[in-house]
Amino acid sequence: MITFVVKGGKARTAPDFLLKDLPGSGGRMDLLCRCLTSSLLLSHGIRTDVEVVLCLAGPPSPPRTITVRGDAVRHLSPDERSTAILLQKALAAYRAGETVESTPGITISDIPFAEVVARNAKRLVVLDEGGADIRDVEHVPADACFVLGDHLGFTDEEQALLADAPLTVTVSPKVLHASQCIALVLNECDRRGII
Ligand SMILES: C[S@@+](CC[C@H](N)C(=O)[O-])C[C@H]1O[C@@H](n2cnc3c(N)ncnc32)[C@H](O)[C@@H]1O
Repeated sequence: MITFVVKGGKARTAPDFLLKDLPGSGGRMDLLCRCLTSSLLLSHGIRTDVEVVLCLAGPPSPPRTITVRGDAVRHLSPDERSTAILLQKALAAYRAGETVESTPGITISDIPFAEVVARNAKRLVVLDEGGADIRDVEHVPADACFVLGDHLGFTDEEQALLADAPLTVTVSPKVLHASQCIALVLNECDRRGII
């Protein structure tokens, strides 16, 4: 199972954002929705060997982490609106200090980004424009945990957390959207037969 961790530095942690204004009222919830569908959806199927961890920093509340497992999720469609509804349901189901399953395959907790990074320290692969070209990397672990920034990239504090990651890779000579990077990483994993 490979994992994509995406941080939403301004992503709203209350379920009250407007479905017609995901970028503004949702704090770039549109970006997280695209990352989620890029990670899990095939044209006619779902990647059962991929999970996605979305780290929402808020406001208004302390961080929320939503995990979506490809082998268990239901009702995931390519459109941002229905994906955002699944995330709203997760935010609405949140209970402090617990990990709650809001809909099949989707759980929410208050594990912060730093803790997500620490728990996956040995298998971290940071996506960064300045990293090694993924095409030149001999071994991409079959259980890699890829970490991506949002439209703001990583803060200095987050960069410090990621500084000791075993691998940092770039997927393009251009700076891309996080969801585009995910598509390129999956293409590389598919071609290598990792997943
Ligand atoms: C839109 S980019 C961030 C741009 C942000 N303004 C910055 O300067 O860091 C979102 C994320 O995608 C990933 N990313 C973008 N281009 C990449 C590349 N060529 N190779 C690897 N990762 C990339 C990084 O994780 C980045 O934080």
